[in-house]
Amino acid sequence: MEKIIIEGGSRLYGTVKISGAKNAALPVLVASILTDKENRIHNVPLLKDVDTISQLLRRSGVRVERNGDSQIIVDASKIDDTEAPYDLVRTMRASVLVLGPLLARLGKARVSLPGGCAIGARPINLHLKGLEALGAKINLEHGYVVAEAKRLKGNRIYLDIVTVTGTENIIMAGVLAEGRTIIENAAKEPEVINLANILNSMGARIRGAGTGIIEIDGVSELRGGEHTIIPDRIETGTFMLAAAITGGSIKIIECVPDHIEPLTLKLVEAGIVLEIGKGWIKVQGNERAKSVDIKTAPYPNFPTDMQAQFMALMSLSEGISVITETVFENRFMHVAELRRMGADIKVEGNTAVVKGVQKLSGAPLMATDLRASASLILAGLAAEGKTVIDRIYHIDRGYEAIEEKLLGIGAKIRRIKG
Ligand code: UD1
Repeated sequence: MEKIIIEGGSRLYGTVKISGAKNAALPVLVASILTDKENRIHNVPLLKDVDTISQLLRRSGVRVERNGDSQIIVDASKIDDTEAPYDLVRTMRASVLVLGPLLARLGKARVSLPGGCAIGARPINLHLKGLEALGAKINLEHGYVVAEAKRLKGNRIYLDIVTVTGTENIIMAGVLAEGRTIIENAAKEPEVINLANILNSMGARIRGAGTGIIEIDGVSELRGGEHTIIPDRIETGTFMLAAAITGGSIKIIECVPDHIEPLTLKLVEAGIVLEIGKGWIKVQGNERAKSVDIKTAPYPNFPTDMQAQFMALMSLSEGISVITETVFENRFMHVAELRRMGADIKVEGNTAVVKGVQKLSGAPLMATDLRASASLILAGLAAEGKTVIDRIYHIDRGYEAIEEKLLGIGAKIRRIKG
């Protein structure tokens, strides 16, 4: 198993270019199977999760080809298999995104239930409730969701909890349904807007993406086209924190500053100096940030996918920070690892109280999930001495070329095998 070794203590300086967003690329790749025409998708990051979804589509007879580093061609003219097997779904929950499109295109789908997940139970009941409302017959058999429908029919769907992939699944099913689908309490994430814009460019009729009510008028077919994935706001935020935690100065380019505004505002509150332009953010760290409180919630609030990384900064800040996680249960696994580096953090229920310490010390650590890995890397960059992070495969699911990007701004980081 690979490990990352970091010699902490260097201030990071330079420019980092942001890759395409994982969470935007996954639904768009899957949405490409809604048509038998070819789609060319630009700015698709090279990530394990993108490989997993590509593998899943290839299994169904879809041609998925990488053309250069960042373009993927999807041709689903010969799609025939409707199954998403357990061995792939269990490695990536977002595989459940194939459910809506397979059902809409082929009239049936057999998708493994994702099962337990390191950051909580994460059920898919709302995906199923939405598809049932569109007329799908759904049964659970031997750990699989088996869904069938001749042609889906539009309906009004209220989501009890804001769910990102749930909203995306219903949008993708709704675009080919007969009549109008209305999703209430829809997710407003930029990745949902990116998906809706791309589907509209393929001939879909979706209004309201980015608001809590999305309306879809079904069409009988979609065309192919050329599409571009938006920049990754979580990668953007992670590099902003890399500047803040090392007291360095990083210019982050090819990003969308608006998409990461909740973090920007918190960094300003913490005393970090920011300069923002069109498509770029420059972050200038201080000797020590001031502690501030955060509470995660669906977009446009503070993203749960930045909570672990922000906690790394707060563990070294001046004062006490209260971090409340409202999106996922059990998303504090990084706490035990940060404590092993000397952080002073107490957890009660969904709240972590972080008392900033003067320094962290490098230690052997274990990554537990994608964003926790990023948090440990940030802590390692700021810590005194050597940090060795095991199970680093988690980071490859969602951060393109993380070591190369960090090396380029002066980090002492390397990967070893075994
Ligand atoms: C997506 C993101 C993930 C991010 C999360 C929250 C992708 C591929 N992944 O995950 O990076 O952390 O949004 O911003 O875009 N829930 C239910 N029933 C459902 C669906 C969800 O109870 O049917 C609950 C979940 O357990 C969780 C909450 O709703 O507590 C939000 O989850 P959701 O938005 O669905 O997360 P994902 O779409 O899986």
